[in-house]
Amino acid sequence: MTRFFMALAALLGVAWLSGQSTARQTLPGDPLPDITAVEFEQFRMGLEDFTEVETAEDGLGPAFNGTSCAVCHSVPAIGGISTMTEVRAGHADGEGNFTELNGGTLFHLFSIPGHLCQVRIPPEANVLARRAPIPVFGAGLVEAIPDEAIIALEDPEDRDVDGIRGRAARITDVASGRGRIGRFGWKAQHATLLAFAADAYRNEMGITNDLFPDEVALGVDAPTLALCSPPRRGVEDVRDRRTGLRGIDNFENFMRLLAPIARGPENHQTRNGETLFRTFGCASCHTPALLTGRHSNPLFDQKPVRLYSDLLLHDVGTGDGIPQAAAQASEIRTPALWGLRFRKPLLHDGSVATPDQAIRRHGGEARTVVERYISASAAERAALLVFLMSL
Ligand code: HEC
Ligand code: HEC
Repeated sequence: MTRFFMALAALLGVAWLSGQSTARQTLPGDPLPDITAVEFEQFRMGLEDFTEVETAEDGLGPAFNGTSCAVCHSVPAIGGISTMTEVRAGHADGEGNFTELNGGTLFHLFSIPGHLCQVRIPPEANVLARRAPIPVFGAGLVEAIPDEAIIALEDPEDRDVDGIRGRAARITDVASGRGRIGRFGWKAQHATLLAFAADAYRNEMGITNDLFPDEVALGVDAPTLALCSPPRRGVEDVRDRRTGLRGIDNFENFMRLLAPIARGPENHQTRNGETLFRTFGCASCHTPALLTGRHSNPLFDQKPVRLYSDLLLHDVGTGDGIPQAAAQASEIRTPALWGLRFRKPLLHDGSVATPDQAIRRHGGEARTVVERYISASAAERAALLVFLMSL
């Protein structure tokens, strides 16, 4: 009930702000402006499920990383990030060939009481990577960007000889079974919010669902797994009899209708910084805006998405050593920079605290661009950072 009032207050807040003389400004955690009453109800139910804490009786585990979506996605509002990182591991031989150990790379942090099914990182593992959460504000708009718009930006052969390549992540969408261009996750491993939600429900929380029907706990054998999670009829994510929706549908609705973080005030300093962002070459990967395709829902029909990402895979020298979906060990998808002022820690492994540190960590394809930043005057660097903190 409280959550309902919070959501209602948020909606009224939007209505109040939109009545002001300033342009309509959404607050972090608000739904997209102009949603219908039916969509608001979907958003509200989605928010409720996204924050709902699951227990072993509900199907949590046997191995898991968190008890609700929101435990890792809550700063500065539900849908955001947290200081949590999760662990991936594997084995690389002397030639750099990677092998998965025990059939996967995600090594869960926790297990349900009894702890028979606690995963452990095997002794052969010599690659260990941490992954920080990614905020989902504005995710519905990102989902509505057509594959072709992302493909149009890739340059795997570096034909323009600027050192910057970028590859579109060609994946199979588990939700539709179709070949798509991935755009969600540090490895651009998913193209749709339904697929990501189903992956997260099983892999983060251990809740089996229609798209991911089997329990996983790497290295735990099948008989032990059966002891920890007694077999049941069907998957753990069941359809709600009242609404007809599954948990994964609710998560999808919430994320799809969640507004992007509104930009902070612009002034001559931020505009100056944005010009430098382009002249340094940051915009070659952090593409300021992409356009959604034609869509039957006006919310997503040919809308500019000011995300500051090309959604391509690049090698900027920070690769985590883990190949995943279409991404190689050395590749990371360009993160969107919208909402950056609310984000800490930064980078895929959450290893740095400030944008300046994040920029200095770029190498590989971004080497020349970052050298321009480093050799710029202190005043220019400061202007760029003012711009970044206005996002
Ligand atoms: C234990 C922490 C944790 C929990 C719990 C969790 N997430 Fe995440 N989330 C992450 C991390 C870490 C990433 C980045 C993963 C990666 O790419 O390897 C992520 C990424 C995402 C993304 C990709 C966003 C983008 O723009 O690329 C979506 C969508 C998402 N999570 C949705 C969910 C949903 C839905 C749930 C609940 C079913 C959930 N998450 C539960 C940690 C968590
Ligand atoms: C060749 C493509 C490329 C160029 C050029 C580039 N970046 Fe990035 N940027 C990336 C990738 C890929 C990451 C993710 C690296 C990681 O997490 O390991 C990233 C990460 C970041 C982050 C951290 C974001 C987060 O959410 O963690 C910031 C801030 C950033 N870049 C700003 C800049 C700025 C400013 C410039 C120009 C000086 C720039 N980048 C140039 C590709 C690029």
